[in-house]
Amino acid sequence: RDLYGKDRANSRGVEFGHQASLDLLLAEIRQGAQQSYRAEPLIDGRAAPGQARSVISPIDGTTSVGQVTEASPETADRAMAAARAGFPAWSRTEANVRAAALMRAADLLEQRRGALLHLLQTEAGKTLDDALSEVREAVDFCRYYAAQGKSLFGAGEAMPGPTGESNVLRLRGRGVFVAISPWNFPLAIFLGQVGAALMAGNAVVAKPAEQTPLIADLAVRILHEAGVPKTALHLIPGDGRIGARLVENKDVAGVVFTGSTEVARIINRTLAAKDAAIVPLIAETGGINAMVVDATALPEQVADDVVMSAFRSAGQRCSALRLLCVQEDVAERMIEMIAGSARELKLADPREVSTHIGPVIDREAKEKLDAHVAAMKRSAKVHYAGEAPAAGTYVAPHIFELNRPRDLAEEVFGPILHVVRYKADGLTNVLEAIDASGYGLTLGVHSRIDATVEQVVERLSVGNVYVNRNMIGAVVGVQPFGGHGLSGTGPKAGGPHYLLRFATEQTVTINT
Ligand code: NAD
Ligand code: ALA
Repeated sequence: RDLYGKDRANSRGVEFGHQASLDLLLAEIRQGAQQSYRAEPLIDGRAAPGQARSVISPIDGTTSVGQVTEASPETADRAMAAARAGFPAWSRTEANVRAAALMRAADLLEQRRGALLHLLQTEAGKTLDDALSEVREAVDFCRYYAAQGKSLFGAGEAMPGPTGESNVLRLRGRGVFVAISPWNFPLAIFLGQVGAALMAGNAVVAKPAEQTPLIADLAVRILHEAGVPKTALHLIPGDGRIGARLVENKDVAGVVFTGSTEVARIINRTLAAKDAAIVPLIAETGGINAMVVDATALPEQVADDVVMSAFRSAGQRCSALRLLCVQEDVAERMIEMIAGSARELKLADPREVSTHIGPVIDREAKEKLDAHVAAMKRSAKVHYAGEAPAAGTYVAPHIFELNRPRDLAEEVFGPILHVVRYKADGLTNVLEAIDASGYGLTLGVHSRIDATVEQVVERLSVGNVYVNRNMIGAVVGVQPFGGHGLSGTGPKAGGPHYLLRFATEQTVTINT
């Protein structure tokens, strides 16, 4: 199916089992590793001064991947003023021209794949498989929003009306959008946010996560090279305090944020408290994602899908499985098989092609996860405890059994799976307990009974439901992605309605 209009489709992958293709890819990455990388505040395309530091790789906790200059609060203010000045010209630029810049950016991303993969592996600790998927997703976002935006932001829609009057409804950019992104998809989410905001005709000030500024800097340079005016897109590296400074600015016309629920709440409060225009927040946050497995599910398939959903990307996906609810009758066997599959996972340097699990993002994340593992070892039944390399920030997969769903009260952002058993007549209670968490991001169901699948899907209000498969890796234009409740404000990234959230609507009525 052609999802992008004309002849474009989702970005292509590489068959790792085909040695010649793999060798070519690895050669690209080696070339990418030869270059040096930096990130700096970019205002109108010019570097601004600030505090410099090294970006340290999570692979070993010592190697510098490049240098970042972090923005001061005053630099952040300057970026907002520059974006405000750049907005009118970009918003008046034809939608076709804006789309063409995104299309060119997608091509450039594919051409610079080696550099991007190198950074995804060394700056963010991604395995080759994950890194490649991420580059593809970033390319897909650019092409998808370009194709969507061309028709949405074109001439406008003529509305019916009386003779002697023309009525046209059109979409326009809002003004300056602040885009704040996390480290776990430092390229795809960064570009997804920025690309959508730009396509809708906004000027953008982008603040990447403090852990991953280098790849964001490269992405911004690619967008500039592709034709996005430097006056329309500005980069502000820095930590949460700089993000907060941007949100407080009086010129903010919209905020797109992906990250924790806690920070989304802070941003929401800041926007609400301002004595200024009412500003929309697009928030995509975390989840305590559950999978329900009944006695009719296929054990081998469940084991594969659970291991993939809970442990791939070291569990550092917002979509990842956190709470597995298994019908009691089959629980023992299922858990045994899952633990058996987890035992096969290779935890190592993510640059080794055979690695399944790389490091978690930094020492702080590792300490938090290690503390959770220690607490679980004291209070829960341990079904599997893997071992992690000593150097770097690795956390081994673990499987713990809890007494009830509510024993898992917050998102644990790593390779740690929690399991609960439910009785054959206890499904309703389990579903109520899952629902009571207040999150609504992803949900897995494994059952061969249609009525059970329907019951689970109907009862739980989540953004993305996966039946009889794994529950991660939403594809742009195929599985529009995003949750609600504590998991976000609802827009679906990579879906047909996403761009609308970045725009205002204007009706022009002319008495002819
Ligand atoms: P985080 O909330 O700590 O940080 C996200 C971004 O917000 C960073 O750029 C950070 O610097 C910035 N920030 C921090 N405090 C701020 C403040 N007071 N004001 C403005 N900005 C501030 O999240 P993280 O640890 O980077 O990412 C992991 C979280 O992201 C997880 O909870 C995960 O579930 C979520 N996530 C959600 C999705 C989704 O699509 N729903 C996708 C990826 C990640
Ligand atoms: N969009 C990412 C996934 O589906 C987070 O896994």
